[in-house]
Amino acid sequence: MATADANPAPDGFPVPALRDRAEACAARLRAADRVLLCSHIDADGLTSAAVAASGLERAGIPFETLFSKQLDAEEVASIAATDYDTVLFTDFGSGQLDVIADHESAGEFTPVVADHHQPADASTEYHLNPLLEGIDGASELSGAGAAYVLARALEPVGSDDSATPDNRDLAALAVVGAVGDMQDSEGGLRGANEGIVADGVAAGVLAEETDLALYGRQTRPLPKLLEYASEARIPGISNDEAGAIEFLSGLDVEMKADGDWRRWVDLTGEERRAVVSALIRRAVASGVPAERVDSLVGTTYVLADEEPGTELRDVSEFSTLLNATARYERADVGLAVCLGDRDAALDRARALLRNHRRNLSEGLQWVTNEGVEREEHLQWFDAGTRIRETIVGIVAGMAVGADGVSRGRPIVAFAEKDDEEVKVSARGSGHLVREGLDLSAVMREASRAVGGDGGGHDVAAGATIPRGERAAFLDEADRLVGEQLG
Ligand code: C5P
Ligand code: C5P
Ligand code: C5P
Ligand code: ZN
Repeated sequence: MATADANPAPDGFPVPALRDRAEACAARLRAADRVLLCSHIDADGLTSAAVAASGLERAGIPFETLFSKQLDAEEVASIAATDYDTVLFTDFGSGQLDVIADHESAGEFTPVVADHHQPADASTEYHLNPLLEGIDGASELSGAGAAYVLARALEPVGSDDSATPDNRDLAALAVVGAVGDMQDSEGGLRGANEGIVADGVAAGVLAEETDLALYGRQTRPLPKLLEYASEARIPGISNDEAGAIEFLSGLDVEMKADGDWRRWVDLTGEERRAVVSALIRRAVASGVPAERVDSLVGTTYVLADEEPGTELRDVSEFSTLLNATARYERADVGLAVCLGDRDAALDRARALLRNHRRNLSEGLQWVTNEGVEREEHLQWFDAGTRIRETIVGIVAGMAVGADGVSRGRPIVAFAEKDDEEVKVSARGSGHLVREGLDLSAVMREASRAVGGDGGGHDVAAGATIPRGERAAFLDEADRLVGEQLG
C-alpha cells in the first residue's frame, strides 16, 4: 500500500494536475472586491466551505457564506439576484454549469467552481474539477479536496519558505470531507487524495494508521463498536449485543475501567492487536469470506490536534457529526465546529448528532421491516414522509446488505420533499461501477425525462422529480441501468 511518505507531491503542490486551474481560480478570487461563497449541506460541503473560507480569510479576501440543499435553477437565480460579482461554488456547481453559465453570459456574476461532481454540458473559465483532468471525482478527490487545492493556490506568494505559514493545516478538514463522501471505502484514501494526506501528515495535523476499520473507534463502548459494525457481518457478533459482550469477555484483555466499558481508543497497541487477531480468527472460523476478513483492518485517519475520545478525533465520526448539523438546516453549527468553535457550537452539534443517530437507526429499521421492491435491474423503496429527504440517501446506503436488500443491484430511494416534489437518492457499489453502472447519468436522464433534474457520481447520485412521476421515473431508470449493465 502506498504511504504518504512513499508518495510525495513532486513539485510541492498536492495535486499537480490541478495546479493551473487552481491558480487561475485563485487569481480571479484575489481580483474580487468580495466573494459570495456557496456550498452544499453535507459533511463534504461543510468542510469544503470551511477550507475555502479559511483560504479566503487568510488571503485577505472579504466573503460571505451561503449553504444550499440543492443548487437548482431557482437557487442559482436567487444567487444571481444578490449584488455579488464573484461567486465561489464548492462541492456543487459543476452539475449545474449549464444554468450557471447562462447567468454568467447575462453578465450577472463570474462563477468560480471547485467541485467534484459530473459536469453538465457547458464550460466556464474558472473551473476546478478533478474529472476535467482524468481524476475520478467519486473516489480520488472530494469537494473539500478541490477546495483544499484552491486554498493552497491562495497562499501568499513566497510561502514556500518554511517560516511563512501555509494552508497545509487545512488538509485535516479536506480528509474529513473525502471520508464523509466515503472515498475511503476501498480500505483507505487513494489517488489525488494521497497528496492531501501527505500534506496533512507533513503539517502535523493528520496521522495515518493501520487499524481496525470499524465505525466508532473514538466514542463507542467496545461492545457497541462490534455490535453495530454491521459492515463486518461476523456471525454471533455483528448485530448481536450478547454475542459481542461474550466475545470480548472471553479475551485476555481488561474490557472495563471503573465499571464502564472501555472504548477502542482506551486500549493499548498490544491490547488492540490482541482483539484484532481474535476477531479475525473468529471471522475465519465462522466462514466469513477472505475479502471481508481483510477489510476488517485498513488505513484510518486521526486528527492529531483533536482530543482523543471525541467525535472530532476520528475523520469518520467527525463527518457524521457534520451531517447531523447540515442535513437538519444547521450548517452554521457545523461550519463553526470546522472553524474551531469547541464550546457552544460543539455542544449544539452533539445534541443534533443524537437526533441524527436516532433518525438513521429508525429509518434503517423502517426500510428493513417494509422491505424493498424489485424491478428487473434495480431495487427501490418509497419512504414518503417516514424518512427525511436529506438523509434518505444515507439510509439507503446503510440498508444495502441488510436482510432482503441485495448488494447485487443498485438501490433507489424516494422521500417526500414538499407538496410538489419528490427526492430520489441512488446508491451502487464499486463492483457495479466496474461493470458499467453510472448512477449520475441514470439520475440525470431519468429525472429529465419526467420533468425533474439530477446528477452526482457514478456510485452515488440523486434527483428531484415532480410528484406523481415515480412510476415513469422508475421505468426509465430501470431501462437505463439495464442498458449500462447489459
Ligand atoms: O454530494 P456529495 O458528493 O457530497 O455526496 C456523495 C454521496 O455519495 C455521500 O452521501 C456518500 O455517502 C455517497 N457515496 C456512497 N458510496 C461511495 C461513495 C460515495 O454511498 N462509494
Ligand atoms: O452519516 P455518514 O454518512 O457520515 O455515515 C457514514 C457511515 O458511517 C454510514 O454509512 C454508516 O455505515 C456509519 N455510521 C454508523 N452509525 C452512525 C452513523 C454512521 O455506523 N450512527
Ligand atoms: O442526496 P444524496 O445523498 O442522495 O446525493 C447523492 C449525490 O447526488 C450527491 O453527490 C449529490 O450532490 C448528488 N445529487 C445531485 N442532484 C440532485 C440530488 C443529488 O447531483 N438533484
Ligand atoms: Zn462531495
